[in-house]
Amino acid sequence: MPKVTFLPSGQSIDIDSETTLREAAHLLGVSVHDRCGGMGACCNCVVTVKEGSANVCPKTVVEEAVFYLSQDDRLSCQCRITGDVVVKTI
Ligand code: FES
Repeated sequence: MPKVTFLPSGQSIDIDSETTLREAAHLLGVSVHDRCGGMGACCNCVVTVKEGSANVCPKTVVEEAVFYLSQDDRLSCQCRITGDVVVKTI
């Protein structure tokens, strides 16, 4: 099972592949500011992938349209994991 670790708290969880970072955050009680409930509409649920960038899905069309996302920034509700990752919440 892939492991997701959230910084700065260091909380982590082993979770099924294809789970979104938002879902992992919710299971841990980590806030990702997901104001639209994961619909890809608010663009507030940004996290930065610090380790394991090869272990997340490619950016979705929704994410590609958000001009202020850097290469390692992801919308947590759109980003599905395939392996271990470390992400930083904003
Ligand atoms: S929760 Fe609104 S875009 Fe992710």
